[in-house]
Amino acid sequence: MSISYGSFPGTRPRRLRTTPAMRRMVAETRLHPAELILPAFIREGVTEPVPLQSMPGVVQHTRDTLRKAAAEAVAAGLGGIMLFGVPEESKKDAVGTPGTDPDGILQVAIRDVRAEVGDDLVIMSDLCLDEHTDHGHCGVLDAEGRIDNDATLERYAEMARAQADAGVHTVGPSGMMDGQVGVVREALDGAGHQDISILAYTAKYASAFYGPFREAVGSSLKGDRKTYQQDPANARESLRELELDLAEGADMVMVKPALPYLDILRQIADAVDVPVAAYQISGEYAMVEAAAANGWIDRDRAIMETLTSVRRAGAGMILTYWATEVAQRLNRGE
Ligand code: PBG
Repeated sequence: MSISYGSFPGTRPRRLRTTPAMRRMVAETRLHPAELILPAFIREGVTEPVPLQSMPGVVQHTRDTLRKAAAEAVAAGLGGIMLFGVPEESKKDAVGTPGTDPDGILQVAIRDVRAEVGDDLVIMSDLCLDEHTDHGHCGVLDAEGRIDNDATLERYAEMARAQADAGVHTVGPSGMMDGQVGVVREALDGAGHQDISILAYTAKYASAFYGPFREAVGSSLKGDRKTYQQDPANARESLRELELDLAEGADMVMVKPALPYLDILRQIADAVDVPVAAYQISGEYAMVEAAAANGWIDRDRAIMETLTSVRRAGAGMILTYWATEVAQRLNRGE
């Protein structure tokens, strides 16, 4: 290619990188607090928040500190909060009873947060059995110890009703059972909860990066989730999952994890006309925090860069454990 404007080089892309104001003006991607969603853990029976070793800065909340975190999220202008309940160990069983008990910790948390923030924040809940089962799987098991897809769906339907009755705005079915979105939609509609929306975990990969989450929810899991979560090697499979979720009534779709799956995120964002979310998961958080704690990377810049990348790849909404902190920074104009 020969471009000649008299002097060489005639085209200088660097002109648009000269000052912070210039770079800000031409930036194609911006982050906004309203598109950030805070995942939060509440643990039954604790009187003080419990810090998570593998996620420095993240805690398992008490009922009281969860309410405060939700109020802080509203003040920072966040879009939503995604709640995870950690029941007392003795209450976990093979079918995840605390997940459907009206007084199970997740339902308690939903009611608390709804009372605290009303409709000022989109209250979402994880709709999955793994936090509530003694074997730690996302579904119920058959006699051979395999995940029983259809028996699990019945539990999900019941969970959906329990969470809706508690006052959630949006449920997030995350167990990767076939048919889960359809069953949850039917259960909600059948119980008069037509207005409750579904954020479908559409592309969810069997990832090593969930590691720290296992500590966060006190998971009892032995083994892995490879018979229900997707193989990291596959991309087309996500488009198939997408088709199914949309056909079954998903209002919003999600890709998870985020950073290792930006290609999937882009493909899904290009394919749909519903809002697309990405979940920057526990291991993604832990990697940045650990490297920063060692002085190996600039923490604040790394956080903004990862979130900008996820946004650039097509996510309109991002679940991130840094949501409140980042929103506060954005509000200060940083
Ligand atoms: C399932 C669920 C998981 C996460 C969110 N929902 C765990 C899993 O699928 O193994 C992981 C979130 C994270 O790692 O931050 N209930």
